[in-house]
Amino acid sequence: MKNKKITRKITQGIYALTTKNGGCIVDAVSQISAGENPLISVAVMKNNYTNLLLKENKTFALSVLGMNVNSEIIKIFGMNSMRDINKFEYIETMNVEEIPIIKDSLGYMILEKVDSMENETHTLFIGKLIEADVFSEEEAMSYGYYQKHKDELIKVKTEQGKTAWVCTICGYVYYGETLPDGFTCPKCGVDKSLFEKR
Ligand SMILES: Cc1cc2nc3c(=O)[nH]c(=O)nc-3n(C[C@H](O)[C@H](O)[C@H](O)COP(=O)(O)O)c2cc1C
Repeated sequence: MKNKKITRKITQGIYALTTKNGGCIVDAVSQISAGENPLISVAVMKNNYTNLLLKENKTFALSVLGMNVNSEIIKIFGMNSMRDINKFEYIETMNVEEIPIIKDSLGYMILEKVDSMENETHTLFIGKLIEADVFSEEEAMSYGYYQKHKDELIKVKTEQGKTAWVCTICGYVYYGETLPDGFTCPKCGVDKSLFEKR
């Protein structure tokens, strides 16, 4: 493959996917049908704790993050696992249909899981929209904007004097001059082409 980074040009937003007892940041969201209750899909990595939660729960939510969102939300929900910390202790949420949604968001969608499909790395969950609201007409943050500005948004602490390789998907940091052959991110599973040197 000559340059896989072209896939980053697929226009996507930044969302907090939540369900009872957990959630994570996602960009892999698509609307796949129209009408009163459109179908919306979200691809969740199998390594993520959220994947287990979505298999157990029937309902989940997507909170749409805006351009001026507090970047702590992206750090806490997108670079930590509910296996290690209780994300809801750090970020303010409110319950809608018993699902915690992010207060500092442009609005939310509540989805009822209707189908799912597995591939090697992800599960594609398909949900039917059952409730939604808009809090703000501010511009939504795009994945492209996040990629361009993530250094300011997410300050990764690197140990002085050491070369760090940062996973551009989940923020995992590997220390070493070079990434070993065949290296994949131990946190989110992507291959080494998605790491950036710092
Ligand atoms: C900007 C950004 C986009 C992300 N997009 C996705 C995504 O589309 N699907 C996914 O499964 N994980 C995505 N992640 C990674 C998860 O949010 C991350 O691995 C999280 O720590 C998982 O937490 P959990 O183990 O509590 O589920 C993204 C992270 C960031 C920072």
